[in-house]
Amino acid sequence: MARFERRTVIVTGGARGMGATHARGFVAEGARVVIADVLDDEGKALAGELGEAALYRHLDVTDEQQWAALVEETTATFGAPTVLINNAGIGGSGTLVEEKTLEDWRRLLGVNLDGVFLGTRAVIPAMRGAGGGAIVNISSFAGLIGTPNAADYTTSKFAVRGFTKAVAMEVAPYGIRVNSVHPGYIRTPILGPLGDEVVHGKIALDRMAAPEEVTKMVLFVASDDASYSTGAEFVIDGGWSAGSPVGIGQTNSEYDVARA
Ligand SMILES: NC(=O)c1ccc[n+]([C@@H]2O[C@H](COP(=O)([O-])OP(=O)(O)OC[C@H]3O[C@@H](n4cnc5c(N)ncnc54)[C@H](O)[C@@H]3O)[C@@H](O)[C@H]2O)c1
Repeated sequence: MARFERRTVIVTGGARGMGATHARGFVAEGARVVIADVLDDEGKALAGELGEAALYRHLDVTDEQQWAALVEETTATFGAPTVLINNAGIGGSGTLVEEKTLEDWRRLLGVNLDGVFLGTRAVIPAMRGAGGGAIVNISSFAGLIGTPNAADYTTSKFAVRGFTKAVAMEVAPYGIRVNSVHPGYIRTPILGPLGDEVVHGKIALDRMAAPEEVTKMVLFVASDDASYSTGAEFVIDGGWSAGSPVGIGQTNSEYDVARA
């Protein structure tokens, strides 16, 4: 039997990028998927492509009322959600902390952190009623190590990691597992035109990843195959958080020669 047969899954930020590959992956493994996003055209097109197993609903993850309505409609249409992928997120302004505005700071934390809190809170009663579930919070390698020019993004992703652990303790008695996934540089629209050159010499695997590589991990963490994992970090960052691949005393050009 497919891993997500008769399971109902909500993927936030599911209209494009990694959210879209997650939605495709869940449908391929038997789930009914609600794609929730603010990008209505992309979301509807994807749901149309996926057929009866998927539907698109507009959701701004920062809006409490929209969350309540989404869970209610999901339950009425597909049955209680037993998997939530808190994937929606935005990048930061790419500026030094002394140049960041309070407005930008709050906007980013609103989506990347408040959105995860609101989504988690909204689905717990439905998951409890269904006898359990899995919540996967998409953090980042920036939730594991410091990243300059990204104090806002780094803060949000560290906070998601901590939130995950605290909530995992609370909901374990209901059969709900909560874990975080920490991608490195993944080829999606959030990165704009950036290519493999941005990771060259910085990470062991020396390349960006395709979104589908992350989807495989997300599906594993959300599935019963990960039945003994909760409050845990699942890292998929090409070795970014493991350390620098340039050896002690080695220059970057010596490293290039050694790799060639
Ligand atoms: N691409 C990477 O290199 C990378 C690395 C680490 C973590 N991440 C994280 O992965 C997740 C997915 O990012 P992606 O790379 O696929 O980027 P993306 O920009 O392609 O997708 C993000 C999605 O979130 C949606 N979204 C934004 N604000 C929203 C809101 N208020 N309500 C609902 N949906 C909203 C967007 O419309 C978009 O569809 C994000 O949380 C991101 O921080 C990405």
